[in-house]
Amino acid sequence: MSLRIGDTAPDFEIETTQGRIRFHDWANGSWVFFFSHPADFTPVCTTEMGRTAQLAPEFEKRGVKPLGLSTDSVKEHLAWISDVDATQNTTLTFPIVADKDKKVAELYGMIHPGEDDTAAVRTVFLIDPKMKIRLTMAYPMTVGRNFSEILRAIDALQLTDRMSVACPADWKPGDRVIIRPSLSDEEAKRQFPQGFETLRPYLRLTDVGTAD
Ligand code: BEZ
Repeated sequence: MSLRIGDTAPDFEIETTQGRIRFHDWANGSWVFFFSHPADFTPVCTTEMGRTAQLAPEFEKRGVKPLGLSTDSVKEHLAWISDVDATQNTTLTFPIVADKDKKVAELYGMIHPGEDDTAAVRTVFLIDPKMKIRLTMAYPMTVGRNFSEILRAIDALQLTDRMSVACPADWKPGDRVIIRPSLSDEEAKRQFPQGFETLRPYLRLTDVGTAD
């Protein structure tokens, strides 16, 4: 059965470009952006790795550690990272798992046989500091991911962990948020003294500013 939101992210021990890791120990209380890609030395993957490296300060600001994975070897990853750095004008500093025997890819359901029997598709697992899976995505091999959406989803998860709110469609940091319907108006007035607009009893909007 595939992993679902709310499941504990399975632990594993494996070689990476930065040595052998035990996943939960490596995460060490941070959020984790764990993502698979089909193969080293392929064009879309090169741009995705480059984008993740370029966004290192954005992940760091949010307390998120990126961890890549493909079914290639450490030697292949290391040779490819030079290409990523050179072509994407960056310095890649996060580890990439070398899952030659597909142990972790199978554990996380990263191989979708209808797409490819041996290579991983483009999966994303956003995992919180308690090692709970909070969001999953799967993209096919020919479609590179939108990294603005990945950062937006992290911001939304972290905001909705801090306050009794939910994020509406196309929400971005700074936009108004929805007060959770489980809160009474009285409780909402206490938690959101800045006030709120009631469009329907179940649809109340408030302004919480940005985390910055
Ligand atoms: C790519 O990264 O460009 C790619 C990888 C596997 C299949 C198709 C595209």
